[in-house]
Amino acid sequence: MTPARRAADKFRRLYGRAPRGVWSAPGRVNLIGEHTDYNDGYVLPFALPFRIAVAAAPRADGLLAATTVGDDGFPQRAAPVRVAELTPGLVGGWAAYPSGVAWVLRDQGFTSGANLVITGDVPAGAGLSSSHALQCAVALALLGLAGARPGKAGAPTLTEVAGWVQRSENDFVGVPTGLLDQTASLCCVESHALFLDVRSGVQEQVPFDAAAHGLDVLVIDTRAKHSLANSAYGERRRDCERAAKLLGVAALRDADTLTRLPDDLLPLARHVVTENERVLRTVAMLRDGALADIGPTLTASHRSLRDDYRVSCPELDLAVDAAVGAGALGARMTGGGFGGSAIALVPVDRRAQVCDAVLSAYVERSLPSPRLFRAVPSAGAGRDH
Ligand code: GLA
Repeated sequence: MTPARRAADKFRRLYGRAPRGVWSAPGRVNLIGEHTDYNDGYVLPFALPFRIAVAAAPRADGLLAATTVGDDGFPQRAAPVRVAELTPGLVGGWAAYPSGVAWVLRDQGFTSGANLVITGDVPAGAGLSSSHALQCAVALALLGLAGARPGKAGAPTLTEVAGWVQRSENDFVGVPTGLLDQTASLCCVESHALFLDVRSGVQEQVPFDAAAHGLDVLVIDTRAKHSLANSAYGERRRDCERAAKLLGVAALRDADTLTRLPDDLLPLARHVVTENERVLRTVAMLRDGALADIGPTLTASHRSLRDDYRVSCPELDLAVDAAVGAGALGARMTGGGFGGSAIALVPVDRRAQVCDAVLSAYVERSLPSPRLFRAVPSAGAGRDH
């Protein structure tokens, strides 16, 4: 059963009637362009076939009541909150995500109380943006209840909605992330990767049909999550801002010479500059239909994230080394790092040997088995019914 159907069913059971509608949004992998978004740079994500769905109906009393339904089918209901009274710090835990979206939309003039039932199949804690999928689906649901259909005439654009979701996450939930994940979840389309210039907001849908080239993108969810993840993300971000200031540029995207940087900042800046170049190179190859040629650039991105930006971890390095050693054309960590997932570009006829090599590398080191699956570029967020 799709997440959308499951959300609608559960809504009916909990509230005794059908929801007004169901909206859903996907998780993502980032093909390349890591830790470039908050440096005004380039990213190239695509949407996964896994989604978070929100069944929703308006409430006249101005309350927001959110319920999530986990894999075990048990609903977890957050205490209802009054949308008009929402303020950062008021709501913690998972409920901060839907509440933050209601808060930011209220400030944009879309005030509504609602019952929300949320469920999905985006692997949680795997660095595949399940929390952004949730926020984007809630945003579309609340806008939909207010009669607004982003992207249509007279309604906010999907890019505006991505900015609002980012504001909710930065200022309400308190996580200083960039624009990559929300934009991917809202704007990606099937069989394409989304080339986004974060500074200008210009987007290009670049054809990315790996299967048509006899290739697979394999996702290796390492199941590792290191406690450094949140604090180090903020630290890297602040260090990038410091480096840009020392160089006298608006953002590291603009850096052309790095020689004036102290030793602790130089490798970070070098990653950002070279990663932006790698995105442009990858996009050029994809535009030429040379999909099989992007492998070495993916692996170079991983090395840069490991050695210069220092956001990898042993589990991610192991996944990348084992995949490339067994015949993947290229591999890299994807997302923020310190755990989560890696991706590998693999010829279909080598898929089994790559999977076996990755799994046995983990067995050899007595690490918990990673979860492996194919990533097929899928549709972005929208209304299901
Ligand atoms: C996380 C953040 C994104 C981006 C990536 C790294 O996924 O949410 O904004 O910074 O890390 O590329």
